[in-house]
Amino acid sequence: MADGSNLRKVDAGAVPLSAFLGPLGMPGVTAWVGLLDICAPKTGETVVVTAASGAVGSVVGQLAKIHGARAVGIAGGPDKCRYVLEELGFDACIDYKAGNLRGDLKNAAPKGIDCLFENVGGEIFDTLLARMNPFSRIAVCGLISEYNSQPYPISNLRSVLVNRVRMQGFIVYDDLSRWPPALTELGAHVASGRIKYRESVAEGLAAAPAALISLLKGGNFGKQLVKLT
Ligand SMILES: NC(=O)c1ccc[n+]([C@@H]2O[C@H](COP(=O)([O-])OP(=O)(O)OC[C@H]3O[C@@H](n4cnc5c(N)ncnc54)[C@H](OP(=O)(O)O)[C@@H]3O)[C@@H](O)[C@H]2O)c1
Repeated sequence: MADGSNLRKVDAGAVPLSAFLGPLGMPGVTAWVGLLDICAPKTGETVVVTAASGAVGSVVGQLAKIHGARAVGIAGGPDKCRYVLEELGFDACIDYKAGNLRGDLKNAAPKGIDCLFENVGGEIFDTLLARMNPFSRIAVCGLISEYNSQPYPISNLRSVLVNRVRMQGFIVYDDLSRWPPALTELGAHVASGRIKYRESVAEGLAAAPAALISLLKGGNFGKQLVKLT
């Protein structure tokens, strides 16, 4: 805000400063709002999140576990899936680049999807739509696969009708009153090590364009940062 009332002083004593650009900043609050305010998973429900190793997705799955849900991630490649499973502690991770998303989804989420946190859109989203449970929820956070191309022609919209799915898009700045409770919870989990995170750091402003192009192809691993030297 112009009067500075939305500025906050961060405490770099407990965690590295860069965490305030990741799980303790906009990406973390995005995960918290979309998961807890919109998806609102109940204990034992299945939460699926796309771009699961990324800045937002990694927090979504870890928060889902903390709140008693089953977390299933979707990520590109075996390295990212190994990280999601072994370091972040998700219950399952599907490598969509392996080419068997539909079949792998049946194994990873045998009871269907109760909460979908959507970061990617496109064909992956269309495939997930077909596995939504009755009265399930979708938080539409991002459509990164479509930012640089034509919109994907969704074919499974009927699932939203027959399963009475509630789907809501959101922007993290919609309700600034949600930031303090989000940051209080996230701060405790990051400081205790319960929420883990990773960063990709590009060195120098000149490296920023390549870093952005790489992000749109999945070249980043965790929050993409640019370090100004
Ligand atoms: N609504 C809001 O307020 C809000 C706020 C912040 C971010 N967002 C959105 O949230 C999403 C995640 O943001 P982030 O900052 O956490 O990014 P990120 O997940 O750290 O990085 C983007 C990831 O998206 C995946 N991706 C990129 N292109 C793809 C494609 N064509 N098909 C499938 N996956 C692709 C890649 O992961 P893989 O290698 O695993 O494919 C890539 O690493 C983005 O869509 C972003 O726009 C929304």
